[in-house]
Amino acid sequence: MSDDLELASTSQAQPDRFEDPGLPPHTPRRGDLDPKANKVSERIVVALFTISILGTIAMIAAYFALPPGQTAATMQRSNLAMGLGLAFALLGIGTGAVHWAKSLMSDHEVSEQRHELRSSDEVRAEAVAALKEGAEDSAIGRRTVLKGAVATSLALFPLTIAVPLIGNVGGDWDVAKFKHTMWKKGTRLTTDPLGRPIKAADVTIGSITSVMPEGIEQTAHPLDEKAKAVVVLLRLDPRDLKIQPGREDWQYDGIVAYSKICTHVGCPVALYEQQTHHLLCPCHQSTFDVADGAKVVFGPAKRALPQLPITVDSDGYLVASSDFTEPVGPSFWERLR
Ligand code: FES
Repeated sequence: MSDDLELASTSQAQPDRFEDPGLPPHTPRRGDLDPKANKVSERIVVALFTISILGTIAMIAAYFALPPGQTAATMQRSNLAMGLGLAFALLGIGTGAVHWAKSLMSDHEVSEQRHELRSSDEVRAEAVAALKEGAEDSAIGRRTVLKGAVATSLALFPLTIAVPLIGNVGGDWDVAKFKHTMWKKGTRLTTDPLGRPIKAADVTIGSITSVMPEGIEQTAHPLDEKAKAVVVLLRLDPRDLKIQPGREDWQYDGIVAYSKICTHVGCPVALYEQQTHHLLCPCHQSTFDVADGAKVVFGPAKRALPQLPITVDSDGYLVASSDFTEPVGPSFWERLR
């Protein structure tokens, strides 16, 4: 037999069988050897769950003590306080559970061989028994303070969701508020946020700008009003515009204005594809054709963006011809009419 053939038969030889090296020697934890260290671990776990309890209480207190108000500063303060409370509530539960599992629960190491996906009935029964043993092993029954801290923090935590939800039920849901905005005949369109009036001659073809009604900052509730009245202003080549019946004088030389609030669930539409004239909502990809009355061409929104009728005043500034003629925002507001 040639050397070549001998080499080939050697390379096809089966590898040695895999030998399970087993687990490395087990190193016991300090808490398993020293009852004092074990007690310290328990106190740390209790402290972490206590942090969660305090976080939940702080979040609920912030909800009542620091309402969002009507200015950006008060909203930021309220969000920060509630967010910090929520963060500590979650952090306490998470770190407490991890520390408890690592320092107090049983420390035996086990390895399991691979097996068929469905275990036999005996193995499943063993698993149930092991789960029960694990619950026993967690020592929750014997550690009364720890049990109290865990139970209290887990019982309180759902309040961080329930209190704001319940607190807002039956709130100020005056539907009439959604039907009208600050726009009225003669109101100038101004840049957001600088508040500068806009001349039609300064709006270039292909541009998109967020605009607000002039004088909005002087209103009693500027954030409420801004949320409803924000508009996108676009200029198209007039030859590309499909004028909607009854809206012949709602645009000025290719300049159109639409509500910026998506009619799906109210995100701000802002992504504009100049070539296709498509305006996209980043939340769920509803797409509106601004050359064709901002009708929906894709996505979950069910109705076109409301159009604001506009014209120019004697100085060439863009002004509204009237308020919106339909409710702005998500469609369910419309159904409440
Ligand atoms: S909010 Fe705009 S697509 Fe959902």
